[in-house]
Amino acid sequence: MKFISIKEAIKKGKGKVAVRGWVHRERGSNVMKFIVLRDSTNIIQCVLEKKSFEKQWGEIDKIKIESSLEIEGEIKEDKRAPTGFEIKVSKINIIQIAEDFPINKDLNEELLGDRRHLWLRSRKMTASMKIRSTILFALHEYMHKKGFTEIQAPSLSGATSEGGSETFEVKYFDRKAYLTQSWQFYAENFISAVEKAYAIAPSFRAEKSKTPWHVTEFWHFEVEGAWMDLNDDMVVAEECIAHVIKKVLEENRSELEVLEADISKLEKIKTPFKRVTYKEAIDTLNKNGHNLKYGDDFKSAEERGLAKYYGDEFVFVTNYPLSLLKFYHGEDSKNPGTGTNFNLLAPGVGEMVDGSQREPDLKKITERLKKAGVDLGMSDWYLDSRRYGSVPHAGFGLGVERFAAWICGFDTIKDSIPFPRTPTRLNP
Ligand code: 4AD
Ligand code: MG
Repeated sequence: MKFISIKEAIKKGKGKVAVRGWVHRERGSNVMKFIVLRDSTNIIQCVLEKKSFEKQWGEIDKIKIESSLEIEGEIKEDKRAPTGFEIKVSKINIIQIAEDFPINKDLNEELLGDRRHLWLRSRKMTASMKIRSTILFALHEYMHKKGFTEIQAPSLSGATSEGGSETFEVKYFDRKAYLTQSWQFYAENFISAVEKAYAIAPSFRAEKSKTPWHVTEFWHFEVEGAWMDLNDDMVVAEECIAHVIKKVLEENRSELEVLEADISKLEKIKTPFKRVTYKEAIDTLNKNGHNLKYGDDFKSAEERGLAKYYGDEFVFVTNYPLSLLKFYHGEDSKNPGTGTNFNLLAPGVGEMVDGSQREPDLKKITERLKKAGVDLGMSDWYLDSRRYGSVPHAGFGLGVERFAAWICGFDTIKDSIPFPRTPTRLNP
């Protein structure tokens, strides 16, 4: 018989089926064995009666959690079974009887982390990885549809980009190299070739912060476009976010249900997202009991608070004081002293996207570098983008795990990446 997935078997609902997978749960007596079988699509209860398997019973009795099996039998509705259906097994092929599976309900985060490669089999992590896959595919799909060219930058570089102290230094033959923190410096150059560019790649941050929202290696969706201004930049960001959410709703209903994610929260997302300035955000925070003055940077609790005060929705905060920004952020000529920049804040998560219209003028950017005490050193090639046909341009970076965790309603981004890297976790 041809094997079908458990999801397809349940859809069929009656008659003969053949399915295969791993033992999710099992219990037995001396006359019956109940196995809840799992594959990548769902779980289903399977019942074996000893009287039909006299010769194989010795082996069947030894089946433990995560053993691998192929079975054939009659499926029927059964309200008492975990997914509402049950298979009365007529044939079983035991592929392997598993050793004692080292994961149980009582493991703490550290021990689960040690067994991450096995923990990925959990229904929660399986659902999370499927949603992550949809997110990545939908981002690619949206950008291609909008005429952006996917173009990669190296992960290894002879000089740092975003900032010194948060860079991982690695041995590179007899020299030092650095792991990339962002694709942006490369992108600001190659947009003079392809105009509209994007990439999805790992970025590395040597941040000791042990918050639920930081990992040392995250997947970075970055966009850069020639001739784009701040508003164009925000429109690309919000439109692609909305596209991804729509796609996840279409393709991952069952995964969202496994995660008990808030589907209504996803359904109510619509563009344009709310836009406020940094100044308005400070006022809103202070009205809600915070104590901030103009020029202070937001801490993550404040960023999460802001999204909440603005109706538990995504909110763009623009025009941060230049003193809080990097040398490449442009200055808003209508509001001098503030940047043509934005952070997109997500409820429960905080900063999810960081973007700006860049400073295109070589003289101004050189002054900003001097003021910030930044020596580009070997990264001076970056400024060639301003030397040879500089144009207005803008871009942003979105943390894929933060977006995925927001969609799934997780309280840490570690649930949104298969093998999280943190200051204390390098294995598996
Ligand atoms: O705010 P960041 O550092 O901005 C940049 O790197 C710009 N060069 C992006 C650009 O304009 N091309 O990082 C961008 C986003 C953040 O908003 C956040 O979502 C995510 O990347 N991020 C992290 N995600 C997980 N763990 C970390 N340690 C992160 N650091 C940043
Ligand atoms: Mg940022």
